[in-house]
Amino acid sequence: MFDQTTYQSRRKTLQERITTGVILLLGNGESPINFKDNTYPFRQDSTFLYYFGISAPHLAAIIDVDEGRTIIFGDELSMDDIVWMGQLEPLHEKAAKVGVTETLPSNALAQVIQNAMHQQRPIHFLPPYQPDNHIRLSRLLDIPLEHIAQSASVELIKVVVSQRSIKSEEEVDEIEKAVNTSVDMHLAAMQLAKPGMPEHILAAKVQHIAQEAGGTLAYPTIMTIHGEVLHNHYHGNILREGQLVLNDSGAETAMGYAGDLTRTLPVGKRFSSLQKEAYETVLTALETATAALKPGVRYLDIHFLSCRTLVEGLKAMGLMHGDAAEAVEHGAHTLFFQCGTGHMMGLDVHDMEDLGEQYVGYTDTLKKDSTTFGLKSLRLAKELEAGYVLTVEPGLYFIPELIDSWKAEHKLSQFINYDQVEAFRGFGGIRIEDDILITETGYRILGKPLAKSVAEIEAIRDGAY
Ligand code: GLY
Ligand code: MN
Ligand code: MN
Repeated sequence: MFDQTTYQSRRKTLQERITTGVILLLGNGESPINFKDNTYPFRQDSTFLYYFGISAPHLAAIIDVDEGRTIIFGDELSMDDIVWMGQLEPLHEKAAKVGVTETLPSNALAQVIQNAMHQQRPIHFLPPYQPDNHIRLSRLLDIPLEHIAQSASVELIKVVVSQRSIKSEEEVDEIEKAVNTSVDMHLAAMQLAKPGMPEHILAAKVQHIAQEAGGTLAYPTIMTIHGEVLHNHYHGNILREGQLVLNDSGAETAMGYAGDLTRTLPVGKRFSSLQKEAYETVLTALETATAALKPGVRYLDIHFLSCRTLVEGLKAMGLMHGDAAEAVEHGAHTLFFQCGTGHMMGLDVHDMEDLGEQYVGYTDTLKKDSTTFGLKSLRLAKELEAGYVLTVEPGLYFIPELIDSWKAEHKLSQFINYDQVEAFRGFGGIRIEDDILITETGYRILGKPLAKSVAEIEAIRDGAY
């Protein structure tokens, strides 16, 4: 937990930026896996963590903007709770640590909300993603379940996004801790991988390191020889000489801040010449896109720059031809790079994704394109500001079904050499991902250095087995 002044100052800013009404922030509850008392590991809602820092289930809080009152709602422990879970810190003590002096039982929340509603004051709430919170909001506010999402407060979403997007120094330090642990995870996987090993051994290794550091994983690990499957969480394959293995894994610190790194390595000790060419195409895109990062630049343009750089590499590999800018305008690169170049990162690996990509990555005048293949998966497009933390993660993904479908209709064959693409059937995918802070003058790659060039990765693979 940060010092209480951090949370007080965040809430003060929030209160000042909302014109009138009551801000209602729900914490997360426990989620059952297969029966009520066997739950998934508890993870507090990130916005609740941001303003209140308390990681305990079934809390809610209000900030009454008009009366200047802040209350945390939750239940003190019953004797049964103490018998089964031990004496945990009472809620009022937890609240005091983050500068909140008023706590009330959970069942007092309904009355407070009803009073505000009778006074016809707006109740600002965020779009829920946990079903229990969806139901709770519906009951508290007497809004049908199906209307909850659209009734969320755009005013509140925008203020929360404006605050959480700019990372303070202490947040950057915490994110860098997460990235450093993520670097350790990646180095360990690079040192351990060998032909004949199941993917799950590597997945277990990175999870072990995340937990050993006192945190957990920031998201389900992608550790796969099928790197072309963008969010592949299957770990049942055996690594074979000649294949690539894509490791997209990151740590979350005990305070909830994320790291998100990807490296792609040969299962054997060396990249093949084809793999090397493709790898260096992705690496050049990563380096070119990263070098262009600074305040005032639109991430949409960083994305297009990374796409054009990929196309130049694909042309050199014989897979594409024609003018790179034109190819990208037509979306021809999306046969090989179907997603966005990066996203914001912070308390969530895709920071604030629950608040809506339109509000997090776009602006009123830069609307998200939700239909165009490739662009619909771009989570960040707007102008960058100092204090943003984001990822840059270009890749090349050879998806057999997509190749078949495009090839059958000769789609964009003015840019794509379909005969050459055949050599990449079964190639898999390559992604390289770094975490980056936007500074006043440019950018800083977060965390300890982690092998990235072919030579650096092969040097580690040399000592692997
Ligand atoms: N780890 C998921 C992503 O890179 O966005
Ligand atoms: Mn990422
Ligand atoms: Mn990632």
